[in-house]
Amino acid sequence: MKLLEKTQLGNVSLKNRIVMAAMTRGRTDINGLVGDMTVAYYSQRASAGLLFTEAIRISEEATGSPLTPGIFTDQQIEAWKKVTTAVHDKDGVIIAQLWHTGRIGHSADRNGKLPFAPSPLPIRGMKHYTSQGMKDYEIPQEMTVQDIRQTIMDFGKAAKNAIAAGFDGVQLHAANGYLPSQFLAESANQRTDPYGGSIANKARFILEVMQELISVVGSEKVGIKISPFHPYGDIILDDPAGTYTYLIEELNKLDFAHVELMRRSPHFPSPEHYTVENEIEFFGSKIRQAVIANAGYDKVSAEAELEKGIAKLISFGTLYIANPDLTERFEKNATLNTPDRATMFGGGKQGYIDYPLLNE
Ligand SMILES: Cc1cc2nc3c(=O)[nH]c(=O)nc-3n(C[C@H](O)[C@H](O)[C@H](O)COP(=O)(O)O)c2cc1C
Repeated sequence: MKLLEKTQLGNVSLKNRIVMAAMTRGRTDINGLVGDMTVAYYSQRASAGLLFTEAIRISEEATGSPLTPGIFTDQQIEAWKKVTTAVHDKDGVIIAQLWHTGRIGHSADRNGKLPFAPSPLPIRGMKHYTSQGMKDYEIPQEMTVQDIRQTIMDFGKAAKNAIAAGFDGVQLHAANGYLPSQFLAESANQRTDPYGGSIANKARFILEVMQELISVVGSEKVGIKISPFHPYGDIILDDPAGTYTYLIEELNKLDFAHVELMRRSPHFPSPEHYTVENEIEFFGSKIRQAVIANAGYDKVSAEAELEKGIAKLISFGTLYIANPDLTERFEKNATLNTPDRATMFGGGKQGYIDYPLLNE
């Protein structure tokens, strides 16, 4: 089985090609500190070839949702060290996903401050989960060029902190409608300066952040997650195929380790003008870095995807919530536990670290 074969990503050896995708679980304290439960959670899943952390806020400004972790204070770095140590003790590999939520946030959880975004365009058709209940999205604050420069530096600082915390690398979260993907989409970016307008201008922010990450932590330790056809967060592009093809061609000019490519999900129908049928074939075949294919895979479809030769690794989200020992279960063809949707975001140990292992 290809899924169980060893491989290399950047300068790290992976014991198999099974990856846990980044998943926000809403279980930090109010200071964005991860605790013992989170140490146990990642440690339980260390038999994966590679773990991505849940999205981690790069700064206070990057905050979108309550009880999500940060990596911008000394205390947060110390808290993450316990996670990386526990995973490394089990020969695991763990990469920190770096997050700026942009307009997917609310002043209710930002000390009254409006979220930042490329343009003052609120998200339509969705409500936001806040500590004070579900709320309509506000009109976000348009970022100045100075705000953009500061944010790029914040990404660099967070990456440096992640390496100090013992992570094996960093991943830019440029998927799922958060700030980097907002820059690419006409539904979120109507700027008329060098960060908006042409496709090249809209891609500038992501490329500058990637350059910053590479310069701070080195090519081998950097990757990016993209979701070209995922409309979550009211992300609609006039020309998604052209925009992402350009982005990929420009990313190909940089040296870094991986691109996690998330397919659209049947739960989020995309607009009719999104005509490309197979995103892994269409975009993945253009990518020079190692491709991690994501969304909707099970053991059989993951194996078939690897056989096609475009993806080097496959990442699993939901399956990892309920199956800490997913690798062993794949190996033994065992049945899988079913995830409980009610405990995915927020709560305690239940639905977090109490899913049974095969031998339990
Ligand atoms: C509870 C939950 C939280 C998620 N949080 C994140 C996140 O923090 N960062 C991210 O890139 N994707 C996040 N995702 C998306 C997953 O990483 C993955 O792309 C998605 O679940 C599709 O993979 P799957 O079909 O194997 O579940 C989340 C998904 C779930 C179910």
